[in-house]
Amino acid sequence: MGEFSKVEPSYISKDGCRLVWEGIDEDDSDVVVLNKDELDSLTEILAKNSTGKVELEDEFSTILINTDLVQFRLKDSKYLEVKTTALTKAVLEYKKLPHNPKPIKIYPKEFLPSIQIEKDNIDDHLNTVLKSKPKKGIPQYDLFRIMSTRRSTRNFDSSKVVEQWQVDKILAAADTAPTAGNFQGFEVFYVKNKEIKRRLVEAANNQPFVNAPVVLVFCMDQSRVKMNFPPEILAKFSLQDATLAAAYSQLAASALGLSSIWIGMIDEEKIKQILGTKLRPSSILCIGYPQKNRPPKSRRKLKDLVRVIE
Ligand SMILES: Cc1cc2nc3c(=O)[nH]c(=O)nc-3n(C[C@H](O)[C@H](O)[C@H](O)COP(=O)(O)O)c2cc1C
Repeated sequence: MGEFSKVEPSYISKDGCRLVWEGIDEDDSDVVVLNKDELDSLTEILAKNSTGKVELEDEFSTILINTDLVQFRLKDSKYLEVKTTALTKAVLEYKKLPHNPKPIKIYPKEFLPSIQIEKDNIDDHLNTVLKSKPKKGIPQYDLFRIMSTRRSTRNFDSSKVVEQWQVDKILAAADTAPTAGNFQGFEVFYVKNKEIKRRLVEAANNQPFVNAPVVLVFCMDQSRVKMNFPPEILAKFSLQDATLAAAYSQLAASALGLSSIWIGMIDEEKIKQILGTKLRPSSILCIGYPQKNRPPKSRRKLKDLVRVIE
């Protein structure tokens, strides 16, 4: 566990805060994000030199304020602590001044696959990426085996690096999904920036595993769907386009021996703000090597799922 270091403004809301514990290097830091009400309750207890409990909005995590120590029991099974005097000083000082969230400007770059594509073969770029031989490991090519063994993970092994050729294939798989009228009403943000990943955690209900080795945000782009239908139909098409593309990427990740978690619990407005886009996000796909390979979860029986109409 690192040392408690500071209270700083939240990235996306001006009324909350981030409590930061510094680890040995930058990647080791632990952060607890508090919303306005949680920060107000904590401040009230600390200001009175009292003891008590603050429950966080995830309905699991709690902060126990004792005379000597403040203990954080967190959803992701992490335990953090800080001396009550140190936290009281830091929080009361923080509350003295008004704070603004810390926006950062981002400039998305063009994506270039790591696989070399010959100039005269530019139209066939997708096949070149999809069919290129993996640089290592034995990927599974049997679709039904991939489907029957896939299992989501929320615990990534950050010591194993996902290589660029794997990301290329995962992105190319998204591009093979069917789309309404073939207008490809979606866009993918491939987030490499560590700071942006951390902000996405905050925008995804503080789900810590969103800070994964590979983070893809699938967005709807209704303006691409040039069909003469009412806007609500075009919106539905672009949501379906983005969802299908993410599902194809998720299967491709499994085929490459990786695991993933689909994140649907997102604050769309916060994500738009973080990515600097007007496009509505539909899901975040977080990908990496799992810490443990686990068997797939059970499903209901096909007889309970399917209704036959003869
Ligand atoms: C639409 C959708 C939204 C989801 N949102 C979340 C989420 O916000 N957080 C999370 O931890 N898992 C989320 N999941 C993952 C599911 O919990 C997971 O896929 C499900 O439990 C089945 O497990 P499996 O993928 O291992 O078969 C979501 C999945 C889907 C399809």
